[in-house]
Amino acid sequence: MKKIDRETVQRILDAADIVEVVSDFVSLKKRGANYIGLCPFHNERTPSFSVSRAKGICKCFSCGKGGSPVNFIMAHEQMTYYEALRYLAKKYNIEIREHELTDAEKQQATERESLMAVNDFALEHFETNMSSTQDGRDIGLAYFRERGINDLMIKRFRLGYALDKSDALYRAAIAKGYNEQYLIATGLCSRSERGQVYDRFRGRVIYPIFSVSGRVVAFGGRTLRTDKTMAKYVNSPESAIYCKSYELYGLYQAKGSIVKHDKCILVEGYMDVISMHQIGVDNVVASSGTSLTEGQVRLIHRFTQNVTLIYDADPAGIKASLRGIDLLLAEGLNIKVLLLPEGEDPDSFAQSHSLTQVEEYIKQNEVDFIRFKTRILLSDAGGDPIQRSRVITDIVKSIAVIPDAVTRAVYLKECSRMLEIEEKVLALQLDKTIADNLDRQQRQPKPRPEDVPAEQQPAQPVATFQGQPVAPAPTPAPGSVRLRRYELTLMKYIVKYGYVPIAQELNEEGEETGQQVTVIEFIDSELRMDDIVWTDPVCARMMEDAWHIFQEDWPMALATHTAQLQQERAQFIKAGEEDIRLHGRDLSDIQNREKSLIERADRQYQDSLAQFTMRYLEDYFLSAPDDEVRNLSTALASEKYQLSKVHTKYAHVETEYERLRELVERGVLELKYAILDEQIAELNQEARAAAGNRERVNELMTQVFELYQLKSQFAKILGDRIVNPK
Ligand code: CTP
Ligand code: MN
Repeated sequence: MKKIDRETVQRILDAADIVEVVSDFVSLKKRGANYIGLCPFHNERTPSFSVSRAKGICKCFSCGKGGSPVNFIMAHEQMTYYEALRYLAKKYNIEIREHELTDAEKQQATERESLMAVNDFALEHFETNMSSTQDGRDIGLAYFRERGINDLMIKRFRLGYALDKSDALYRAAIAKGYNEQYLIATGLCSRSERGQVYDRFRGRVIYPIFSVSGRVVAFGGRTLRTDKTMAKYVNSPESAIYCKSYELYGLYQAKGSIVKHDKCILVEGYMDVISMHQIGVDNVVASSGTSLTEGQVRLIHRFTQNVTLIYDADPAGIKASLRGIDLLLAEGLNIKVLLLPEGEDPDSFAQSHSLTQVEEYIKQNEVDFIRFKTRILLSDAGGDPIQRSRVITDIVKSIAVIPDAVTRAVYLKECSRMLEIEEKVLALQLDKTIADNLDRQQRQPKPRPEDVPAEQQPAQPVATFQGQPVAPAPTPAPGSVRLRRYELTLMKYIVKYGYVPIAQELNEEGEETGQQVTVIEFIDSELRMDDIVWTDPVCARMMEDAWHIFQEDWPMALATHTAQLQQERAQFIKAGEEDIRLHGRDLSDIQNREKSLIERADRQYQDSLAQFTMRYLEDYFLSAPDDEVRNLSTALASEKYQLSKVHTKYAHVETEYERLRELVERGVLELKYAILDEQIAELNQEARAAAGNRERVNELMTQVFELYQLKSQFAKILGDRIVNPK
């Protein structure tokens, strides 16, 4: 279920036509070679969303979003990589072979499907109850009306009613042929000791709970009685399809808006979500009463980095939930907190205010979480020094989990002011806490994500390649920021032309071996020769991927495609000769025609082969599962980095492809030249530091001198066009 085999992935990518895929969501007009429309990722009046069928990518020139068909579907439909592939497979009627599934896994998958089917049935049953039975209308619908919920929201959240009978759902389901086993496994029904089967939900309004992809996985039922002995809420138990800590109520309905506003508002209850959506604040989800789990936080992070928590102004409740928020911080989210006026909850607040009022209130009153927490805890601690030191530890703990060092530093400064403690002291505590955390993490490994059903898998926080996590990036070396642009240039050639041959291989004696050297081999061997490693972690990963595919898949792909092209070439020549036989005027005419036929056939062959070679790797990158790899590739493959290209109407401009060898060689030299510069600067600095130690200084200066000589050699090769690479 989780994985799709590589071959199928390739067939899906091959089939997906970017214009067709985008057209399902954006109305496109042809303009020149491209298509253009209004960007679906941000609000705009003049179209800046451009789609190139030839390149197979789309891109918004205003907000920068876009990419391959897979990228587009991922971003637009808020799907994971594999969900997007499935979507495309469905669109293009491509059968997904899942031969990687074991029999046990297959059975599990059908079991899950059966549970979902029973839930689907129950969903409609509850809905129909509410719209078409007397009790449903008089009790269920009347309740929602009284709470000010309109029909649109009832439809949007698929609200329903469970009749106050012991087995109404059970009977209806059995009559329809549903299996009792699944009714019990979903928790919709249960069996008493005496063997009687009962409905779980009786005489309650029903809030269906949807997974992020829109399948109904559970239900919540609220009693309509004020009777205190009656549980207010009854919920579906956990099952093979429902893992409470991986679901958020309303996320399915809210995800589009969350992305659009780049912000998620978190509330507590079902009704809070619905009332907020009803007035138009629809980037709202609920944790459903429990405190937030890591799984839920990951889920939110798939859609945005920015989270605002809405609290009722109940001090005890606030303090109890403060600790849980560290989870959000640790995930790298920006957290704000909003307190509602005394006595209000999001439901009542939304019901009694207009959209603008609510939006305005949020804007005016949301405050940064750490600041909020510091203030609350401090005012609580008063002047008690022990209390105060606890507060400090507590705040430092919160700051310590923030992954971004710059953000940590900002908070450190601010909290040192608020807590009236020297920044240095606070920094020391912070470093210690971070070290402790690291220690602890190493001792207890996290549960493997495979243990969670696919439907509920959170987005992988670490980069992945073909489903496998990739080691986190090492901290970049100091000079690497300046080197990065040269690495990017080389990586651009790899993405676009990685497998294109640019030179003949030479043996030790300098004779041609008949083998060709491709761009990727050329760059790799050049860098290896001088022990150069990629400092940019994404580039390093890309090189690894490209190299892996080059060795594993490419030889076979090239061989099969070449065979096919040769066949096409032969057919083309055969058809041409037929034509010449019919129309040739005399011998010399026939000879001329034959010559140009062969030339055309060869050119076609070469062009197709070149196209195939270029697309093979580029396609992989543009749809790579690793987000960072995919994004960087898209940027490199589109025009963004082609700064050096000269546009002129008059002169013939050689294409990148025609000048490939020269460009790649230059790219390598420029990188090496820049590295030399870095090294020289470092040595000079070392020499300054070593002033006084004459022997050491001399040694260093000799090294500098050698580097200068190397540099001038490079400069000669690079020609006078490059005076200063900076
Ligand atoms: N909840 C639950 N099970 C319970 C109690 C609460 O699942 N036994 C969850 C529900 O998602 C509920 C949320 O916690 O929406 C908040 O609980 P509460 O404040 O008691 O309910 P409200 O949502 O305010 O419900 P209402 O406004 O209808 O009273
Ligand atoms: Mn309420």
